[in-house]
Amino acid sequence: MISPSSAPVTSAPSSKSAMLAFAANVAGAIQSATGEEALVRRVRQMLIDAIHDETFSLDCIEEAIDAIQPPLSDWVNPPIVNDEVNNFSVRLIYWPPRFLNSAHEHTFWTVTGVFSNALTFRTYFPDTGQNGEGFQVDREIKGKRGEVGFILPPCIHTVGNEADTPSISIHVFSGPKLIEDSFERGRTTWYPDEGSPDPSPMFTLNHAFQAMIALLDSLDNPRALDLLDRIFAIAGAPARLACAKAIARRDKVRAGHRLLELAEQCTGEDAAKLHKLGTAFLAEQVSK
Ligand SMILES: [Fe+2]
Repeated sequence: MISPSSAPVTSAPSSKSAMLAFAANVAGAIQSATGEEALVRRVRQMLIDAIHDETFSLDCIEEAIDAIQPPLSDWVNPPIVNDEVNNFSVRLIYWPPRFLNSAHEHTFWTVTGVFSNALTFRTYFPDTGQNGEGFQVDREIKGKRGEVGFILPPCIHTVGNEADTPSISIHVFSGPKLIEDSFERGRTTWYPDEGSPDPSPMFTLNHAFQAMIALLDSLDNPRALDLLDRIFAIAGAPARLACAKAIARRDKVRAGHRLLELAEQCTGEDAAKLHKLGTAFLAEQVSK
């Protein structure tokens, strides 16, 4: 994770300059803020502008990959920006297909954007009906990549991925850290449904990789190919196969080599199929 106050800013294309510029802009907005609503609206516009810049997306994914360190089983999805001076963090959250989290609310303002694919946001008001339990939907917002909203507390809400493919959200979370050894800013109060013992979206690294791969596959940029290779180098077999497929759409030779590597990792029929396909990709290139 990057701490804006201490991280060097350079102008090289892979210096994450777009992400650092966004973090610096948010810090500046917080420092000069005169009111909460004006501040969140300003940060919201900054995030809209940022997501529309492909370099920003690549910077964020690169930072998320850089933050993945062994042992991979200890991965807990750290923020990609953490600013203790101005009390905010920027986080990517990875949503598997058809996943809906439980109703919850945050202590401080947040700005949330759809970073990849699509997400559905619902806000609720407490149900004061006969039972006095549960919540009723107040608003439902279906967001596509690049769309951004904000939440001023109190606001009970859920986030869901209704698609058959993974999605990613990007969040600016404000407020001080209240829980030691946690990335959380302020405190999140969860209202889990019955039967959902773990309401928070702490997914596995494989979920994160699959969501990153889906986004990188959609970005027509040479850097995306390099980031797919970086994921391939550290991921498990399912994500490695998804990487190889995404690479194959743009670079058959590169994909051929990756498939042969993956074949080495597998056994039996899978290994034979991967070896055959990898060899075919390489042969295809030679015959051109
Ligand atoms: Fe939330």
